[in-house]
Amino acid sequence: MLEDVCKGSPSYGESSCGESAYRRGRDRARRRYRRRIFITLVGVKERFVVQGGTRLQGSVRVAGAKNSVLKLMAAALLAEGTTTLNNCPEILDVPLMRKVLEGLGCEVDIEGTVVRIHTPASVSSRADFDAVRQFRASVAVLGPLTARCGEAVVALPGGDAIGSRPLDMHQSGLEKLGARTHIEHGAVVARAERLTGAKIGLDFPSVGATENILTAAVLAEGRTVLENAAREPEIVDLCDMLNSMGAQIQGAGTSTVTIDGVDKLHPTEHTVVGDRIVAGTWAYAAAMTRGDVTVGGIAPRHLHLALAKLKNAGANVETFEQGFRVRMDGRPQAVDYQTLPFPGFPTDLQPMAIGLAAIAEGTSVITENVFESRFRFVDEMLRLGADATVDGHHVMLRGVDHLSSTDVWSSDIRAGAGLVLAGLVADGETVVHDVEHIDRGYPHFVEQLNALGAHVERVR
Ligand code: UD1
Repeated sequence: MLEDVCKGSPSYGESSCGESAYRRGRDRARRRYRRRIFITLVGVKERFVVQGGTRLQGSVRVAGAKNSVLKLMAAALLAEGTTTLNNCPEILDVPLMRKVLEGLGCEVDIEGTVVRIHTPASVSSRADFDAVRQFRASVAVLGPLTARCGEAVVALPGGDAIGSRPLDMHQSGLEKLGARTHIEHGAVVARAERLTGAKIGLDFPSVGATENILTAAVLAEGRTVLENAAREPEIVDLCDMLNSMGAQIQGAGTSTVTIDGVDKLHPTEHTVVGDRIVAGTWAYAAAMTRGDVTVGGIAPRHLHLALAKLKNAGANVETFEQGFRVRMDGRPQAVDYQTLPFPGFPTDLQPMAIGLAAIAEGTSVITENVFESRFRFVDEMLRLGADATVDGHHVMLRGVDHLSSTDVWSSDIRAGAGLVLAGLVADGETVVHDVEHIDRGYPHFVEQLNALGAHVERVR
């Protein structure tokens, strides 16, 4: 039973429910998901009321990765016809990306966890409308549009709460391939009569820049060699999908990726890689609540360091082919962390590491190396009674034996999830505001938490 979830069982609310109860639960959750899209689009604020003191126990299965599906949807622009994506997460960013693609001329159907993108023979090169500005991942259309249309005008997303996120490496990569780029009227503009393969070295293994260079280079003339490329599992997933569309990419998942340009790509059907950040969130939730949670739908090697850190903190971690189990019996021990590009500790799990360190025995130092202002979350943890000091890109946490509930505000997706985890171990009732951030990345979060024994309610 524990290992079943690591093969292919319900994606939320396991415990003892049978198949029909599962279906009813899934349908209810999907109705809520559609209502939530509506609520967010009309701008109604919701909050989560989290009762502290529960121990998470049971099994949960993660869906496809947010940080992959949005790029795969953008990559569907590269080929005329219908591309089908399976295992898509039911999160708000997916319908947002649908709006972006529809604005470019595609038709997009979302049916539960299946997304079909019908790409016409010619797509618009201008993505400078409101939907694009609403979320960062929309910039993933830059590479495909430059490759297919010889021009791309993509609105820049607004400021992000985790620090400055320039596009200089995206632009210089496209320039190496022969495009001219500049920023104009709040949009990044790229133009190229034709793209030609080149040798490109990134200053930092940026995920987004690697993706835009890949999706442009697949249709360039000749060979591109990308050095210091990002190695995240989501990059490998994108390359797998591009190769199944007829691209010639080698070395995905290593620092040097070689792309031999082809004339044309064809549509494909692809299953999105499991979400390692959501899986990691469950792992840390289990450890924080001294629980016992089995997580399926994820290759444990995608979370190797995060799980190793949990072992150092005292958790018992068992791994399966497509999942893992985390059990924590006593108080966690303090552990130091450094966020780094994959295979390092993911910056997106930094709030969860802070949450665990906040209640650990001893002092932990957490160093953020990827984003400059990702410690805004710490202010909210201080409100919950954490003993933390921020110094530049380090935060020192002296573990306290309990947190104390209050109202807190999510500033981004992962910080929001981190606050919910903190609420689970705070005494009393924690109210997490601005949960639209969490809905952008965590499918059926409240339903899944409650199926594991938590008491969390979504209220308006
Ligand atoms: C992606 C993920 C995000 C994750 C991050 C790092 C998506 C939608 N988001 O973001 O959840 O936290 O990877 O794993 O997939 N940088 C530049 N110039 C550039 C590009 C990036 O200076 O042209 C800097 C950024 O400001 C940041 C660092 O490089 O400090 C890493 O950014 P990057 O890897 O590009 O992250 P994203 O693709 O934006």
